[in-house]
Amino acid sequence: MYEELENIYKKCLDCQKCGLGKTRTNIVFSDGIPNPKLMLIGEAPGFYEDKQGKPFVGKAGQLLDKIFECVGFSRQNDIYICNTVKCRPPENRNPEPQEKEACWEYLKAQIDIIKPKIILLCGNVAVQSILGNVGGITKIRGKWFNGDEKVHNAKLMPIFHPSYLLRNDSREKGSPKWLMWQDIKEVRKKYDEL
Ligand code: URA
Repeated sequence: MYEELENIYKKCLDCQKCGLGKTRTNIVFSDGIPNPKLMLIGEAPGFYEDKQGKPFVGKAGQLLDKIFECVGFSRQNDIYICNTVKCRPPENRNPEPQEKEACWEYLKAQIDIIKPKIILLCGNVAVQSILGNVGGITKIRGKWFNGDEKVHNAKLMPIFHPSYLLRNDSREKGSPKWLMWQDIKEVRKKYDEL
């Protein structure tokens, strides 16, 4: 499994299928373990991810790690983390449809190799890429979707992006952080059942 993922990673290293290939410093392929029940798909690498070649290493990533830690998950033991696109879009803009399309081959290969039982779709870009137009994140976060064969029938849950939580600091009942806490507890519960 590790070797199969390594082969896809090597393919990415030479990739120039879209314009992002010209501006990237590093391919940001994945972090975490190669055989997890739980996979998280984010949007796209940012500044620090591009520099280090690892997903979610900036402030948003640190918050994500803390959220996972609260329910006993870690990158070292439980999760595989990747993004919809493997190269940083300039100025952290959202990836363009043709960039997501070009990179789908790699994300699909990651899903095919790992076959996670649960996939967390972190933010609107990830939701759109996997589920299409199912509504905005505020409406659909915390809901379970039954994935089709494209995702090996995984259970899918859209969750808020940690950058959004960084911009909304309240922990009051009903706030984004409070909702995220409910969602991650639900994920833990499903994880333990599967
Ligand atoms: N935001 C993402 O969606 N992915 C990263 O890797 C970093 C920030």
